[in-house]
Amino acid sequence: MNLYNWKQKKEVILGKEKFLDFYNQLKDCQDLSLLKEKIIYFKKWALNNHSISEENAIYCSYESFIEIIKKILSSKTIERAKHYLKTLYDFLIVERGNNINDINLARWREYSEIITDSLWIFDKRDTSGAHLGWYWGNFIPQIPRQLMLRYTKRGDWVLDPFVGSGTTLIECRRLGRNGIGIDINEEVVEKNKQRLLKEKL
Ligand SMILES: C[S@@+](CC[C@H](N)C(=O)[O-])C[C@H]1O[C@@H](n2cnc3c(N)ncnc32)[C@H](O)[C@@H]1O
Repeated sequence: MNLYNWKQKKEVILGKEKFLDFYNQLKDCQDLSLLKEKIIYFKKWALNNHSISEENAIYCSYESFIEIIKKILSSKTIERAKHYLKTLYDFLIVERGNNINDINLARWREYSEIITDSLWIFDKRDTSGAHLGWYWGNFIPQIPRQLMLRYTKRGDWVLDPFVGSGTTLIECRRLGRNGIGIDINEEVVEKNKQRLLKEKL
C-alpha cells in the first residue's frame, strides 16, 4: 500500500549507492565546515536531474529532505551536524517496521495522510463511493480510516459489532483489511450487502 503522497508533492530521487558512499565518507568527519561544504554539494547533486536505475532509487519528498539538510547546515557543533546526518541516513535507508501497523517509523515525516495532531480536523466528511452518509449516527469515514491505519496492518481482521451503514467495512475494503460487521437490525444488514460490494477493493 502506498501511504506516501510522494506523487502529489515535489519529490527527490536519490541514488542509494551514491548516498551511502557520501554518508560513509562523512560519518567520521571532525570538521564542521568541511561537513557543511559537502552537504551543500550533496544537496545540489540530489536536486539535479540525473538518471538512476529503479533498484538503486530512493524516493522522498522534497519538503522532508530539505528540512533535514537545513538542520545539518544550521548546526553549531560537529556532533549536532552528525546527529542530523544520521537522521538523514535513517530517513533514507532504514526500514523501521512494527507489529501494529504498516508504517515505516523511520519515514514518519512522509505519511501526510495520517494526522499526528492531537485534534483531528477534517474539512468535510468523505462522501465518495459507497459512503452515502444516510444512516443515523454514522461515522465520518475518516475516523475509522485513521484508526485502522494506526492500529492494523493490511490483511488484518477488523470487527465492527455495531456496523450500521458499514462505514468501517467500506474503509476496510479500501485499505485491504478483512472486515466483519454485525448489526441487530436485519434491514440495515441487507441494505449494506448490496452497497458494500460496489466498493472497490
Ligand atoms: C450509531 S449506529 C453505528 C453507525 C456506524 N458506525 C456507521 O458509520 O454507519 C449503531 C448501530 O448499532 C446497532 N446495534 C444496537 N444495539 C446492537 C446490539 N446489541 N447488537 C448489534 N447491533 C446493535 C444499531 O442497529 C445501529 O445500526
